[in-house]
Amino acid sequence: MRILGIETSCDETGIAFYDDQQGLLADALYSQVELHSEYGGVVPELASRDHIRKALPLIEQVLQDAGCQRQDIDGVAYTAGPGLVGALMVGSMIGRSLAYALSVPAIGVHHMEGHLLAPMLEENPPAFPFIALLVSGGHTQLVRVDGIGQYRMLGESLDDAAGEAFDKAAKMMGLPYPGGPHLAKLAEEGEEGRFTFPRPMVKHPGLDFSFSGLKTFTLNTVHQHSDEQGKIDQQTKADIAHAFQQAVVETLVIKCRRALQQESLSRLVIAGGVSANKQLRVSLEKALKKIDASVFYARPQFCTDNGAMIAYAGCQRLLAGQVDDLSVKAYPRWPMENLAAV
Ligand code: KG4
Ligand code: ZN
Repeated sequence: MRILGIETSCDETGIAFYDDQQGLLADALYSQVELHSEYGGVVPELASRDHIRKALPLIEQVLQDAGCQRQDIDGVAYTAGPGLVGALMVGSMIGRSLAYALSVPAIGVHHMEGHLLAPMLEENPPAFPFIALLVSGGHTQLVRVDGIGQYRMLGESLDDAAGEAFDKAAKMMGLPYPGGPHLAKLAEEGEEGRFTFPRPMVKHPGLDFSFSGLKTFTLNTVHQHSDEQGKIDQQTKADIAHAFQQAVVETLVIKCRRALQQESLSRLVIAGGVSANKQLRVSLEKALKKIDASVFYARPQFCTDNGAMIAYAGCQRLLAGQVDDLSVKAYPRWPMENLAAV
C-alpha cells in the first residue's frame, strides 16, 4: 500500500510518499521560516496562504522523485489536528479532494501521533509498550504507549511547552525565530557552571512539567547582565543559553526516568522538534544506561514537522481498515487519548 502524506499544521509544508513494504519512497519539506521571521513568530493567515502555494507543487515533486504517478497513490493521509485551523484546512482539503478524485481512501492523522511514530521509520524501531516523551513547540507530554492508538497520558506541561520555552528564551537573547536550534547551538559555546538555573517541578511528585518559572528566571538573568542599551556580551549570552538548556534537559531526563520506573518499562521514545536537541539525546542515553533502559528517536529532519511521519501513521490506520468519510476534518484541539486503537 502506497500512501501520500500531507503535513500542513503549522509553518512547514511536508509531503511524503510511503510504501508499507519498501518504506519511504520520497519526501520533501518547505519551511516558511523566512516568511514569518520578520514577525518573530508564525502568522496564521500567511501560513495558510503559503501552504496553498506550496502543497500541490511539492506533491508533484515527491511523486516524481519516487518515480511514481498519481495513479500509484493507494491512499491519502493528512494532518487533521491539532494545529492552526486555517493551515490544517488547506492540507485536509487537498488530501480529501485528491483521494476523492483518485477514488482511494483518506484518513485524518493526529499530528502528535505522527511525531510519536516517527522513530518507526528508523532502522531499529522500538517495540511496544514504551514511554513517549513528546516535546514540540506546542506540547510537552509523557505518554504510555501500548500500541498505535493506545495512549495513556502520564503527565504534561501545566504552562509553556518545552519548545515554546526554548523559543521564548532565545527571543530574550535576541536570537532569530524559531529560537530552539539557535539557542542549542549557542549553548555549545557556554561555560559550564557560570550560571545555575532552577530545575522546575523535579521535587514535585508526579510527571507534570512547568517551564514558566524558568522563563522568568532567564529573563531576569538576561536583564541583570545587560548594559543600559540592553546589550549583553556574547560569552554571557552563551553561558545563559548553556544553563537554560541544561535546566530543561535535566528536568526532562528526571521525569522520563520517573515515568519508566513508575510504569516498569525499559524503552523510551522521544519525539517532536525538541527531540532533535543533541544535549537531550546525550543526557538521556547516559541516564537510561544506568537503569538498563534505552532511548529511541528519529533522524533530526523527522523530529521536526514532516510529511513522512503523517504518511507512516496514516498508512498503519488505513492498513487496519480505518477510513474517514467525505467530510473535511480540521481539529485545532484534539486529545490524543480519544484516538481509536489499531
Ligand atoms: O515538532 P515541531 O517541529 O513543531 C510543532 O509541532 O510544534 O517543534 C518545533 C519546536 C520549536 O519550538 C523549536 O524551537 C524546537 O522544536 N526545536 C528545538 C530544536 N530543534 C527544534 N529545540 C531545542 N533544540 C533543538 N535542536
Ligand atoms: Zn510538530
